[in-house]
Amino acid sequence: MENTIAFDARIPLQGQKALITGASSGIGEAIARRFASAGAAVGVNYLSGADAARNVIEEIRAAGAEAIPLQADVASEQDVAAMFRTFRDAFGRIDILVANSGIQMDAAVGEMTLEQWRRVIDVNLTGQFLCAREAIRCFSEQNVIPYSKAAGKIVCISSVHQIIPWKGHVNYAASKGGVMLMMKSLAQEVAEKRIRVNAIAPGAIRTSINRAAWQTPEAEQRLLRLIPYGRIGEAADVAEAAVWLASDQSDYVTGTTLVVDGGMTLYPAFREGG
Ligand code: BGC
Repeated sequence: MENTIAFDARIPLQGQKALITGASSGIGEAIARRFASAGAAVGVNYLSGADAARNVIEEIRAAGAEAIPLQADVASEQDVAAMFRTFRDAFGRIDILVANSGIQMDAAVGEMTLEQWRRVIDVNLTGQFLCAREAIRCFSEQNVIPYSKAAGKIVCISSVHQIIPWKGHVNYAASKGGVMLMMKSLAQEVAEKRIRVNAIAPGAIRTSINRAAWQTPEAEQRLLRLIPYGRIGEAADVAEAAVWLASDQSDYVTGTTLVVDGGMTLYPAFREGG
């Protein structure tokens, strides 16, 4: 099937319907806003940030794009099924999933409770599986639209900690390592349906999840030693990468992780040693 709508790089997601999980704050919020300005109608999923989600939606609408709220716990199979139903009732179809919801519940291994282990795996890994499965079911049932070469696109928000081991965060690192191979296995499985699955591995992005790592000048200096490019990332840095991975400009890209980290994965300690 050929793309019959001329691609416009200023609105690379024109006519597409995108569901973004964890979109009431941080990286997810930036992606929802950027997708809307790139021409997409967006579903703003949140768990408990109803007021924040409402603000994001109002501002997107005020700018002339479509947005709807989607309250759901991505770790709940029922919630996820209901969320996709609501999304499709509103927009008629789905073209893009950004599986972004993620949490940290940090503890030294000896103090880490089973509940902390499970909740992080449930949200960060099982949540992405449940949403990806639902999106793939939808993509497989729909017609390909003239706005997109692929039948559907999934962007998993992972982390540099899919590569870098992280003391005190074994649940989080394990969940992100899992996201990496889940993403690749899904990409391999659904490529023949013309569905693309990719990931973004953000480094230290200035959001509330890592506030302690940048909020004092001393903490910020310590963090900057790990970032060769010399600045902390902004959520907008990740949003730009997400637009590209969701658009036809990356149509031949699947099963890949785009690392957006200012060089954090370049073994910065080796600038002085080795
Ligand atoms: C974590 C942040 C951390 C960053 C770099 C992210 O995945 O959520 O807390 O600052 O990785 O270590």
